[in-house]
Amino acid sequence: MINKSAQIEENKEGYREIKITVFRYNSQNKDAKPEYQTYKLVETPGMTLYIALIKIWSTMDHNLSFDFVCRAGICGSCSMVVNGKPKLACKTRTSEFEDGKITLLPLPTFKHIKDLSVDTGNWMNAMSKKMESWIHTKEVTDIAAIEKPVEPDVAQAVFELDRCIECGICLAACSTKVMKEDFVGAVGLNRVARFSIDPHDERTDEEFYELIGDDDGVFGCMSLMGCEDHCPKDLPLQTKIAYMRRKMVKV
Ligand code: SF4
Ligand code: FES
Repeated sequence: MINKSAQIEENKEGYREIKITVFRYNSQNKDAKPEYQTYKLVETPGMTLYIALIKIWSTMDHNLSFDFVCRAGICGSCSMVVNGKPKLACKTRTSEFEDGKITLLPLPTFKHIKDLSVDTGNWMNAMSKKMESWIHTKEVTDIAAIEKPVEPDVAQAVFELDRCIECGICLAACSTKVMKEDFVGAVGLNRVARFSIDPHDERTDEEFYELIGDDDGVFGCMSLMGCEDHCPKDLPLQTKIAYMRRKMVKV
């Protein structure tokens, strides 16, 4: 491990100093070698890992790569492994780490780009296509017609599963995914569960079975709970996987 360090400012306010160690590697450069780099900085009140990384990037190291868009736990792009656990960096406060030592690694299972940046987008896009993530109906849409009413409890149940932000944390926390490269993970199974309870979708259980009725789908999950334990949106992933498994067993 190669450690470099840098000090960004004097601690005038009496705040503690924290150390952030970051995995550095450029997958695009065939001559590059992976290493760790440690940055020292002064923790400010309410500091998130997003704020800390922006501070490092803007004052110490313009070459550090990481992904952010919304800074509010909505876009799902800032997932990374923080002291061994996959988390959203924008929703993780540095004060959670009592000893002030934080190690950041890129999310596993996705294509690595550089440093903390990985390509979740192409994986999610391929998963969406594979799970046929759109309403299947023979009805011709009449945009002038009044929308069909949906029972509030059904609409709420669909909305609950639609809260997935495609952050990839459930896959990073999943041991099955490590063993089965093509496993669709909780994010894929949750997607199918979402359409299976949507009254607008006319697909049968037999049709859903074609999508997830194998070891890369609902029968591959070993119920290790890593997905639900780490999902930043608290989605009921294991309940929905069990629900789909019960349906698929009957096909
Ligand atoms: S199910 Fe949860 S952990 Fe998985 S991608 Fe969606 S929001 Fe992220
Ligand atoms: S930056 Fe969007 S979820 Fe963190």
